[in-house]
Amino acid sequence: MGNRVYIFDTTLRDGEQSPGASLTIDEKLIVARQLERLGVDVIEAGFPISSEGDFKAVNMIAKEIKDSIVCGLSRALPKDIDVCWEAVKEAENPRIHTFIATSNIHMQKKLQKKPDEVIEKAVKAVKRAKRYCSDVEFSLEDATRTDYDFMCRVVRETIRAGATVINIPDTVGYAIPKEFANRIKYLFDNVAELDEVILSVHCHDDLGNAVSNSLIAVEMGARQVECCVNGIGERAGNAALEEVVMNLVTRKDYFGLEVGINTKEIYRTSRMVSELTGIEVQRNKAIVGKNAFAHESGIHQHGVISSKETYEIMKPEDIGWEGENLVIGKHSGRHAIKLILEKEGYRVSKEQLDMITKHVKALADKQKTIEKVDLLAIANDVIGRLSENQARMKLKEFNVVSGSGVTPTASVRLQIGDEEKIGSGIGVGPVDALSNAILSIIGSDITLEEYNLKSVTGGANALAKVTVKVRDREGNVVSATGVDEDIMKASASAIIEGLNKIFSYGKG
Ligand code: KIV
Ligand code: ZN
Repeated sequence: MGNRVYIFDTTLRDGEQSPGASLTIDEKLIVARQLERLGVDVIEAGFPISSEGDFKAVNMIAKEIKDSIVCGLSRALPKDIDVCWEAVKEAENPRIHTFIATSNIHMQKKLQKKPDEVIEKAVKAVKRAKRYCSDVEFSLEDATRTDYDFMCRVVRETIRAGATVINIPDTVGYAIPKEFANRIKYLFDNVAELDEVILSVHCHDDLGNAVSNSLIAVEMGARQVECCVNGIGERAGNAALEEVVMNLVTRKDYFGLEVGINTKEIYRTSRMVSELTGIEVQRNKAIVGKNAFAHESGIHQHGVISSKETYEIMKPEDIGWEGENLVIGKHSGRHAIKLILEKEGYRVSKEQLDMITKHVKALADKQKTIEKVDLLAIANDVIGRLSENQARMKLKEFNVVSGSGVTPTASVRLQIGDEEKIGSGIGVGPVDALSNAILSIIGSDITLEEYNLKSVTGGANALAKVTVKVRDREGNVVSATGVDEDIMKASASAIIEGLNKIFSYGKG
């Protein structure tokens, strides 16, 4: 077993399964490029059979990414594996990742299959994947609630069938570090075939143990860790990539292991994922939270001023945090904007750059000083938008009346295809009235699930960023943003973008 730990990023697959985190194909491509820059070893780009949009995104990422392995997920079903291969086959380094549940509870209640049938399906799936691709990963879903000896049997058989990576997921975030360590040790002690392959772990954070479980597994010999930027993912999320990596890097004296990550890209990647998914990073989040390097108490400040090592075990520069410099003025042109965006990992189309520049200049004309965060908020907003022909609905005008002693009232005029429609509504406040006016046109199948307003830089003249989550009758949830110096305009634009996204959901 070598001393290199492979970082398998599943932000675009498991991370995207966070409610409302769905990303457009363009957004996924932007994140994938940034993950490549960050130096992740594997990008799990999606679950190709799950929708046309996911297939396209995985396929586009496979065609473009050169330095990381591009992996697609598939159940242990022939059709899933075939479609997964179609999606990843053009990658420089493709991987098929197939899985089946192995715990009694999943086999009985979900699959309604006997253990022997599950093994047979797993082996067949790996063999089928292997016909296409030399790099095949097999996961035992709900491994941490799987009988120890059955787990060993599945691992042995799937390695014999050709799996090159075996993944032990803590699917429901149930494991306790010491117990998880024992499970990994048991595997190494009982499955000699593991010496020929990479053992991987994939930990969820339901009990808050995802990072600790991943690290203890590494201590026991696991050499691939599956994780997500900012720890996003199903329910409480997955192990946070930045935490796993910075533990291994900062405490190299303890672990003695190597990773291939360029840690200076961590902050940028975190911010990009947060902006594009609409999932905020909590202020006190380890490594990438706003407060991670802020020292509040006098004693700490005094110590840090005398010598940084007194209270800082990492430097902000280690993760690429450079401060939020003032970057754009009234006279900065497209070229300057393009360069800043490229440095931040954004490659934008000509049309997107035009829109971003137009918005930045309009803002600069109003005497607003424009900081990097403003520019990125505008860029993320533009990139996150559906293209002109995908967006079914456009805002023509709106009007909101609000004040003390009046019932907040709004009217809107929307262009929907060739038709123009007018709606009106009242509400408990102006945003509620505006949202009711828009929804009065759309009908009751759609609900506004969440509304969040944030000032991008702070201050009364700051840009407002509105993030909404919109749900349809089938329970699909999408998130969308609107950025503007006018709160109501940002709100209208976010709600309409959310509606456009939900109407095109799954269509790619
Ligand atoms: O949590 C899990 O078990 C998974 C598998 C599909 C790897 O995400
Ligand atoms: Zn998972």
